[in-house]
Amino acid sequence: MNPRYLANFDLSKMNPARTDVLVIGSGSAGLTAALHASEFGRVAVVTKSKIEESNTLHAQGGVAVSLAGDDSWEKHFEDTISAGAGLCGRKPVEILVREGIHRVNELISLGANFDRHNGKLLFTREAAHGRRRIIHANGDNTGSEIEKTLVRAVKNNRRIDIIEDHYAIDLLHYKNRCCGVITFNRKTGRKTAVIAPSTILATGGAGQIYRETTNPEGATADGMAIAYRAGAVLTDMEFMQFHPTTLYLAGAPRFLISETVRGEGGILVDRNGYRFMKDYHPLCELAPRDVVSRAIVEQMKKTDSNFVLLDLSDISAVKAAKRFPNIKRICGDYGLKIPKDKIPVRPSAHYIMGGIRINLNCETNIRGLYACGEVSCSGVHGANRLASNSLLESMVFGFRAGIAAGQNSKLKNFKVHPIKYEIDRKILRALDVDDVRRSLQSVMWRCVGLEREEHNLKEAYNIITFWEKYILSAMVKYTDGFELQNMLMIAKLMATAALRRRESRGAHYRTDFPKPVPRWKKHIGFSLKC
Ligand code: SIN
Repeated sequence: MNPRYLANFDLSKMNPARTDVLVIGSGSAGLTAALHASEFGRVAVVTKSKIEESNTLHAQGGVAVSLAGDDSWEKHFEDTISAGAGLCGRKPVEILVREGIHRVNELISLGANFDRHNGKLLFTREAAHGRRRIIHANGDNTGSEIEKTLVRAVKNNRRIDIIEDHYAIDLLHYKNRCCGVITFNRKTGRKTAVIAPSTILATGGAGQIYRETTNPEGATADGMAIAYRAGAVLTDMEFMQFHPTTLYLAGAPRFLISETVRGEGGILVDRNGYRFMKDYHPLCELAPRDVVSRAIVEQMKKTDSNFVLLDLSDISAVKAAKRFPNIKRICGDYGLKIPKDKIPVRPSAHYIMGGIRINLNCETNIRGLYACGEVSCSGVHGANRLASNSLLESMVFGFRAGIAAGQNSKLKNFKVHPIKYEIDRKILRALDVDDVRRSLQSVMWRCVGLEREEHNLKEAYNIITFWEKYILSAMVKYTDGFELQNMLMIAKLMATAALRRRESRGAHYRTDFPKPVPRWKKHIGFSLKC
């Protein structure tokens, strides 16, 4: 049985900070939410590292938005629905593609510099988009331009307080109302609390649960886990998207090689130089992501190789330098000259479509608790996210979360109960947290990866259950120990959902049930009774 809170505390002895809207997480979703919530009152942004650090910062490809002359929100809508393999919500998708246009224009008015030619926005192409629809910044540095713009706006906003290096241990929760968070100050080693009538979770994803991932160190599923412990519903947890092309070189980080490289003419060849994608899908390299990822794995097996190669020789040196300066630099650090040299790549965990279930106003089933961005499941991605729809989602639903949380933050009778919690935990042993973390990542990669099968999924479920029990009687290091417990909790839900879904759909592929089954055109949700 998991404890309700991961740490002991006594709120009456803590002198907590108070604000109107508390935002946890500082990526594009959280910062957009903070800016809009500040129209209604005071806001505090809590982040476990520095304000600039987030998944957004690392995003390369761009933002999908129907601003090109030959495009329309209806076409973007159709492509999104069709990528989602039957599980997208039509209303959230309509909101995404229509409101996305306003949010992008708003970001531009805040100073975001997207790449242009003669003053006109440039658009690139990514998989499963019917046309060139992806705007980008500084070539492949789109995420960093967006993050920089939003951080600047937040820092200039006197109503927003930034609280860095504070790890959110758990949500404070009383009678189905969220009333803030207990945090761990990583600088002082002390527990603190922030009290607020409205709390927005925007903590990003869960890629670190896997051995191979494009996600930064901080993507440890914290937001999903703390919401789940507080009684929130999590849904669609079996849908982890694997990005087809991550740099695969011994000693190099698993660095994302953006899909826009294929959008601009990069092709995939196997170790024998054979362009294999034409055997798998008529759209070749621009087939949907799940198709390309599985084709790569299949071709690696056929050719007895750990990787395939991304060939950029059809892209001129001038264009490669302009469009992919970051990829060129990182590859250069490991001796690869772009575009002359082929890049060794293979798939890795990239983006979780599931998360905290929210409605159109980003409300969860817990009063006062909102969620937006990757931590949430708004219904826009279904079983398979369309490339570059996630930054758009973070802005559209970040805006909606900020407005809803701000509007509902002026509660006349908001009182906080003096919650006190003591874990009944017998410490029996020491625990090498890093070792369990690495083992979890390997098990998830092997058993709950791109290809799944009943016996592997059961193996993952059983071993995670064992580790969960074991950790309850172990001495853990603070932040790493909290992260590990969160990762175990969410990994188990992912394995459980994948085991339950006896079909293949979108990013979830079961070798023992390789086809979609109409009666499975539904969502799998989980919640704890609190
Ligand atoms: C990429 O640049 O390939 C990633 C874009 C995305 O995942 O949306």
